[in-house]
Amino acid sequence: MGDRLTELLALRFGCEQASFASVSPPAADILAVLAGHRVHRGFHGRPVPDDLVRTLVASALSAPSKSDLQQRDIVIVDRAIQQKIADRVPQSPWVRDAPRCVVFCANGRRLFSLFEQRNWLFPNDHFDLFFNSIGDAAITLAWFIVATEAVGLAGCPLSEIRNFPEKVSEWLCLPDKVIPFAAYCFGWSKDDTPLTPRLPLEMTVHAGRFDDAKAIISIDGYDRCRARLQPSIEQRAVDRWGASPIYGWSEDKARQYSVEQRAGFGAFVRSKGFSTE
Ligand SMILES: Cc1cc2nc3c(=O)[nH]c(=O)nc-3n(C[C@H](O)[C@H](O)[C@H](O)COP(=O)(O)O)c2cc1C
Repeated sequence: MGDRLTELLALRFGCEQASFASVSPPAADILAVLAGHRVHRGFHGRPVPDDLVRTLVASALSAPSKSDLQQRDIVIVDRAIQQKIADRVPQSPWVRDAPRCVVFCANGRRLFSLFEQRNWLFPNDHFDLFFNSIGDAAITLAWFIVATEAVGLAGCPLSEIRNFPEKVSEWLCLPDKVIPFAAYCFGWSKDDTPLTPRLPLEMTVHAGRFDDAKAIISIDGYDRCRARLQPSIEQRAVDRWGASPIYGWSEDKARQYSVEQRAGFGAFVRSKGFSTE
């Protein structure tokens, strides 16, 4: 008989509960929040109070950051701008319905400005500045998701804001070297959504050295599992690729990325003063 944590992990990775260690509370409760994560795209209108949002952003900003540089910021989006974002993503109606929306930004400006203030030349205005600030923004988003789920809220990230980054930049008054990474729309969840299984641990965890020799076989099993769990998922681009008898994860992802996506994003990043060299 396993506990809630091992139950969630077994479900997530399609393996025996017994293959996971039993962890005692309160650590088990924290890990169960991580293991039980799922995005929610349906919300009750019930408001999320400002002081709770402040607690959540402060918790998320407690995340570690590369060299303690703290190259990430959060913009709490006001309702009017949230509606403008929603207008741009009609395929994601939950963006409009979500009581709250925040945007996670990569901030390469803060460090740069320390040099400006001192009239020093900044010798690190290269790709690493961009990479580190994106890393910090991503970690902070992850911590925010955990914080929201820990208090019983739910939500979904929205990288689709990067389909119109100039507009987001204008609406949120993002200066040079500050770019949006993703939004997160959240509130009190309307329905419980199922756990999305992840690729098998044998494929994504490498003992000692990287080895993807059996990757294709593992993906095949994973595909069958996903197709079994989500038999009614709408197939993408049937006109182009036809209807697939087994429509699993790999077919869905290959179809999703068979059309060019955000090819201009690098140009936007450079236009905001980041070097990609
Ligand atoms: C950085 C990031 C950006 C995402 N952007 C979107 C998005 O634009 N639209 C969307 O519907 N879901 C988005 N998602 C949610 C993923 O689709 C979701 O995490 C994935 O399907 C796995 O589901 P789960 O998180 O419930 O396990 C995003 C997730 C992350 C981490």
